[in-house]
Amino acid sequence: MKIIAIANQKGGVGKTTTAVNLSAALAELQQPTLLIDLDPQANASSSLGNNPVPGQSIYQPLLGQSTLDSKVQASPYPNLSLVPGEIDLAGCEIEIARNADHLVRLRKVLHEYRSRAPFKYAILDCPPSLGILMTNALAAADTVLIPLQCEYFALEGLSKILSVIDQIREAGHNPGLSIEGILLTMYDARTNLSQQVAQDVRTNLADKIHVFNSIIPRTVRLSEAPSHGKPILAYDNSGIGSQSYRQLAQEFVSRQTAPVTA
Ligand SMILES: Nc1ncnc2c1ncn2[C@@H]1O[C@H](COP(=O)(O)OP(=O)(O)OP(=O)(O)O)[C@@H](O)[C@H]1O
Ligand SMILES: [Mg+2]
Repeated sequence: MKIIAIANQKGGVGKTTTAVNLSAALAELQQPTLLIDLDPQANASSSLGNNPVPGQSIYQPLLGQSTLDSKVQASPYPNLSLVPGEIDLAGCEIEIARNADHLVRLRKVLHEYRSRAPFKYAILDCPPSLGILMTNALAAADTVLIPLQCEYFALEGLSKILSVIDQIREAGHNPGLSIEGILLTMYDARTNLSQQVAQDVRTNLADKIHVFNSIIPRTVRLSEAPSHGKPILAYDNSGIGSQSYRQLAQEFVSRQTAPVTA
């Protein structure tokens, strides 16, 4: 089981939309996938139609009070399971902070679980704040996928998350952490700005960090789907939002088997 954190400390850049819809598209490609909702807002969970129930999240496993196995739920979709979020995860941050190993709690839970996990991928939906939950996600993950909204100062925001990733490596919490890639989101082909941002990101980073060829366009369907409790593949199966996340999943999977060139 490969663990991928969907992370960016900036709010509202498409982390949850990407976590949910990439997971659903991987599941559609017959890749057994576990979506773990680490955000107390639990938007990823509700986007899959999950109703909030106290005690359903990774909170107890993080505190050593329960196993992860007991929190994994089937979703309505084949090959897709969920560890839901819950508002109590906010309190969890405070409780975990009391422990000496507070930054690697999730790492311990997931690495202990991975040998028997019936999943190919675990996708972690991170909260936006640079708190203990996001740090735990970065310490636990094999790779980070960074959604980047096509807007002014996109590159400035990116340097912040990249330095956080460096800090996690250098502190020894997760020396092998690598970057899966940068995903351009909310792309609006009609505006020069989107095109300019996409071009800037590719020119500045392409030789250092993978920038996914797949781009997620801004489409109202992607913003409507969560209120129907459905991933885009179930809400608007053939629309441009579905097409773009399918393409991303295919690109993602093909890169897993591609030979390493650098
Ligand atoms: N490609 C898109 N087109 C249109 N709307 C989008 C798109 N992607 C995300 N949105 C909408 O933008 C808002 C923010 O997206 P999302 O919740 O995925 O971001 P986030 O990074 O997880 O936010 P947070 O930091 O609060 O967790 C949501 O209302 C979502 O529905
Ligand atoms: Mg989110």
